[in-house]
Amino acid sequence: MEKQEIRTFGRRHGKKLSARQTMLIDRVLPTISPTNLPANTGKILEIGFGAGEHLREIARQNPGKIIIGAEPFMNGVASLLSAITNESNTVRDEYKNIRIFADDVRDFLRNTDSQFEQIWILHPDPWPKARHEKRRLLHADFLNMLATHLAQNGEIIIGTDHWEYFDWIKNEISKTALDARTPDLHTIHTRYQAKNMAGTAMPKYLVIKN
Ligand SMILES: C[S@@+](CC[C@H](N)C(=O)[O-])C[C@H]1O[C@@H](n2cnc3c(N)ncnc32)[C@H](O)[C@@H]1O
Repeated sequence: MEKQEIRTFGRRHGKKLSARQTMLIDRVLPTISPTNLPANTGKILEIGFGAGEHLREIARQNPGKIIIGAEPFMNGVASLLSAITNESNTVRDEYKNIRIFADDVRDFLRNTDSQFEQIWILHPDPWPKARHEKRRLLHADFLNMLATHLAQNGEIIIGTDHWEYFDWIKNEISKTALDARTPDLHTIHTRYQAKNMAGTAMPKYLVIKN
């Protein structure tokens, strides 16, 4: 990350990882990094996948595509690694199409010319305090950057249960030449969505097409 770039995520490390999780990060993570991606295979990106429930779902639904997840929170990365490996610490067959970038997605995007059929961002950190607003990821410049990585007919799918952030994102989209619509999507279940269901509103979704 460039020094002057504002950090959009909270912690990188939470509670202490188990010995197995540490081993998976040391040994398995380097083998599934998103490098040397084949040019002729469809690709889907999920930004801030948390513990990776939705990422695993799209990996199972799209066996012929490469699913790339970016997440700097190492406990989330460790949860995903635990879920996609078997007892012999090998990636399970149904998850062999997953690649993980365990850091800020902006660093990944700056260094790839990959185009994505879908880019998912579910429950981006809302940074609700006014003084933290600058930390919000989905500002106009970032959305324009994402759009340069969309394949033909590609789409960016955004979901949040923070309605003020939702309106803020719509306002950021209006500063770009991008077109957004509110899709008829059923609630997409993620850990964050489940954790917050009692306290917050239903998620709202936006789809940006190129
Ligand atoms: C509120 S959590 C939601 C996690 C998950 N999508 C869910 O719905 O359960 C937002 C996540 O976005 C990640 N995040 C924030 N900024 C990011 C960035 N620049 N690149 C990649 N991930 C980022 C955070 O680390 C955090 O795990």
